Amino acid sequence: MNDKIIPSVDQLKIIINQEEIEAKIAELGKTISNDYAGKELIMVGVLRGSAYFLVDLTRKMHIPFAIDFISISSYREQSETAGVVRITKDLDLNISGKHVLIVEDIVDTGLSLGYLLRNLKTRNPADLKICTLVNVEARRIVEVPVEYKGFDLPNIFVVGYGLDYKEKYRNLQFIAEFNRP
Ligand code: IMP
Ligand code: MG
Repeated sequence: MNDKIIPSVDQLKIIINQEEIEAKIAELGKTISNDYAGKELIMVGVLRGSAYFLVDLTRKMHIPFAIDFISISSYREQSETAGVVRITKDLDLNISGKHVLIVEDIVDTGLSLGYLLRNLKTRNPADLKICTLVNVEARRIVEVPVEYKGFDLPNIFVVGYGLDYKEKYRNLQFIAEFNRP
């Protein structure tokens, strides 16, 4: 493969392969469809990391629903600990009275989602829950209720399947531990 597209192998260790991700997403799609059957559901993807997960997850769902996106600035863009979160692209849909499922790539410290939950709650959704592909409990600073999760991981930095290092490697078909230079 082209080393301009994927990092060098010594920087990458595959943690979750493509088959495991596909199987987990199929399972989540089924569970979520069953849980939200008959409800007015809006699936909210948090840009940009959740894009791959949201698309694949929704393709495994068998109920009608709407999709929307929200973008928040990550504290990681400045530094690991700045703790500043703000909405850079808001929802287009009105979520009042709707069942909202936030779809994330990873819940790490919980700072971003803690902020997002507080913000979206003020818009009076019927219900507000979280679905994340990766959950890192060991890093949690803010307690956030995670209703649906793909994989629990220890405190390691991962890329792939939407997760980036400096905006790159989101398109990897697997999730890999990445040794940051
Ligand atoms: P939080 O710490 O839960 O607020 O997560 C903030 C954001 O940091 C996530 O949505 C990801 O975009 C990013 N992030 C956290 N951990 C990782 C990682 O291991 N790899 C890539 N991005 C990460
Ligand atoms: Mg993100």
